[in-house]
Amino acid sequence: MDMLSLIIIILIPISLLFLLLPFLRLLILLSTACTTSKRRRNKSSAAAAAAPLPPGSMGYPYVGETFQLYSDNPINFFADRQNKYGPIFKTHILGCPCIMVSSPEAAKFVLVTKAALFKPTFPASKERMLGPQAIFFQQGDYHARLRRLLLRAFMPEATRGKVAGIEHLAVSALSSWDGHTINTYQQMKIYAFNVALLSIFGKDEMSSCIIEELKQCYYTLEKGYNSMPINLPGTLFHKSMKARQQLGQIVADILSSRRRKGNVEASDLLASFMDSKEALTDAQIADNIIGVIFAARDTTASVLTWILKYLAENPNLLKAVTEEQMEIIKCKEGAEDKALTWADTKRMPFTCRVIQETMRVASILSFTFREAVEDVEYQGYLIPKGWKVLPLFRNIHHCADNFSDPEKFDPSRFELPPKPNTFMPFGSGTHACPGNELAKLEMLVLLHHLTTKYRWSLSGSETGIQFGPFALPRDGLPIRLSRKANAN
Ligand code: HEM
Repeated sequence: MDMLSLIIIILIPISLLFLLLPFLRLLILLSTACTTSKRRRNKSSAAAAAAPLPPGSMGYPYVGETFQLYSDNPINFFADRQNKYGPIFKTHILGCPCIMVSSPEAAKFVLVTKAALFKPTFPASKERMLGPQAIFFQQGDYHARLRRLLLRAFMPEATRGKVAGIEHLAVSALSSWDGHTINTYQQMKIYAFNVALLSIFGKDEMSSCIIEELKQCYYTLEKGYNSMPINLPGTLFHKSMKARQQLGQIVADILSSRRRKGNVEASDLLASFMDSKEALTDAQIADNIIGVIFAARDTTASVLTWILKYLAENPNLLKAVTEEQMEIIKCKEGAEDKALTWADTKRMPFTCRVIQETMRVASILSFTFREAVEDVEYQGYLIPKGWKVLPLFRNIHHCADNFSDPEKFDPSRFELPPKPNTFMPFGSGTHACPGNELAKLEMLVLLHHLTTKYRWSLSGSETGIQFGPFALPRDGLPIRLSRKANAN
């Protein structure tokens, strides 16, 4: 929490509030996240008589099991309860009554088969920061229209044209790390940010001052993501909201300049959003561009960070990845153009399996949130209207029924396709990740140059996971990286 927020809270009846400070913080977060669900709970209680609620504990009044969630780590919290109550259980966290589901069938029910009954839900402060018209918060026709536009820009046919631009970003990122100890996660965030901007605005815009200005504003915005939503001058939240306004203006300026130039042939996301037939307003475009940056950056950076950790810890796997990547270089010996191509990225099956296994083991998005829009019965249990429903991706990925010896890092398990609905690193159903092809491509391109030209060693002594909010190796995985002597 920033200083000013703290002062504001302490100034009002000092002694009492001081004692209740952690509780107060929680209340503020909750009141923004869950105002509607409480109203609805009463209405749905009559229907609750029809079918029982799933097993589980609702914890203490109001705070529920929130303290248990934070005093443990989320992984143990959910795993313990699954062991105790089975694959569908209730709890009460962050002020919201919740149903957790951890079987592939239940996740499919919530995300795919009955997706219309479970709407996406986020804290109101997140919605204000990203923009209320961003795709994450939508359902129905407007959501379908946004998805069409996003998929048009990120489907394989569009993504294949981005290989050269991404390769350029990967090569320059790696050479800037050469000879240094770096915080892997922070550096991967910069790389993933650049790739996202390239695919949104195209390569011509990348070197412009306005993109630099956009980056600086975005850095200010993200500092407030997890702050208390107190919009008073001096607070982090206020600074973030100001940066958010500026970002809207920057996107509006880029839109005007694109309209002046009449660059309608472009295959980037901006061009897709600007398609006159789809008639998005400038505000809708800005909300979704900021939303895509938010969705694309920390996720991809976290997965890349885990890959570097797992490869460093498994020299045999690193050797196999390096050999596969060297094979691609060898095939280009004597050729004039040695640039990586889309076809090359299709000849990296082992590296792909390492990425898949990393996404399974690390499960950086441990779960997602939905809210029941009406009372729903599932396997004889009631999911009441207004309750949050959390499909637990991590539990599904770490269940021995779905993946044998689940704690072992073993890419070979992906030589056969996983059982249906057991592997969901990119989600599933109507809100599944539209950026998955781009994410895979940028990881493959970076790994190609990393493994063939560089070596790295872990320089932190700390092991373990931190959540920020995605699961990450502790301290962002400090590594020392240097160029191989024989690399050309
Ligand atoms: C390895 C990296 C990534 C992972 C693990 C990931 C994971 C996910 C997941 C699990 C969801 C579904 C969330 C839910 O159902 O509530 C999602 C949605 C989304 N992702 Fe990704 N993502 C990644 C990279 C990207 C990239 C690179 C982009 C854009 C270029 C992107 C854009 C989006 C968008 C816009 C949504 C919302 C879709 C909707 O609501 O319809 N993601 N992502």
